[in-house]
Amino acid sequence: MSKHLLDFKDIDKKDIEKLIDITGKINPEKTNKIPSISLLKFDEPSTRTRLSFSVAAYRLGIKTFESSDISSAKVKGESLKHEIETYKAMGIESLVVRTKEDNIDEYRGFEDISVISGGFGTSSHPTQAILDATTLDKFNKLEKDLPVIYIGDVKHSRVFESGRQLFASLGKNVGVFTHESFLPDDLTNIEVLNSWDEVLEATEAIELLRVQKERIENLEDSDLNEYIKKYQLTNEILDKSGDDFIALHPMPMNVDIEISEKASLHNKFKYIEQLSFGVPSRIASYMYVMEQYD
Ligand code: CP
Repeated sequence: MSKHLLDFKDIDKKDIEKLIDITGKINPEKTNKIPSISLLKFDEPSTRTRLSFSVAAYRLGIKTFESSDISSAKVKGESLKHEIETYKAMGIESLVVRTKEDNIDEYRGFEDISVISGGFGTSSHPTQAILDATTLDKFNKLEKDLPVIYIGDVKHSRVFESGRQLFASLGKNVGVFTHESFLPDDLTNIEVLNSWDEVLEATEAIELLRVQKERIENLEDSDLNEYIKKYQLTNEILDKSGDDFIALHPMPMNVDIEISEKASLHNKFKYIEQLSFGVPSRIASYMYVMEQYD
């Protein structure tokens, strides 16, 4: 049975804790080598995920090749089954996929090749959730009985979907503070907050999410201005927050929309620390699917 890392639905708590532990501790320059071949298939733009998988593979001695739907026979109508059979026949042992499609279930049953989500539609981005959780752990936020609160375009966010699964598995509460048009369809076990004051009262850790203009139909300028007025993270909010308060962002960020320029330079905004776990999170993910944990 091949191991996949598509989301956290079929990964147990022990493995999630191990992924976070490895991400937090591993030195990318001192990893055991895994002689293997991996295909990075990115059908949507990506800087951090695509390059950190490449660098992680390099550190692990895994040879990578890149492909995308634009340059593959998918444009001729080839099925996913035949595409995967072709990869396996070439000796490709793992496949990292970023796609705008929400077809993650089609990948679950593939054998003799491990599939890792590099971001599926609006439903999954597990390696981002692992590095987010590791960052929270480094700032001692995982051990505290406080929710992680997501602010921004939660409805279209695969970072949120994977985050809520991961934190549910760890027994950590999740909240959202956003415009009603950006609320997720499924609010099961999600606390909805109504003001920045409520957010600052409830937690020490927030994750901003990008307002995904490309996924929002008929976005009016007036709606965006209303959003900015009520939900943008500003310097004043960060100054008002407690000393232990931190803000994260998976990036890319829209400065002047979900965060003001001054807030993006504030010392409570920890995106650089978050970025430093990009390669370790992908190393841990390769080790997990290749069963090279110990
Ligand atoms: N956070 C994230 O997924 O960034 P990229 O789109 O650059 O990969």
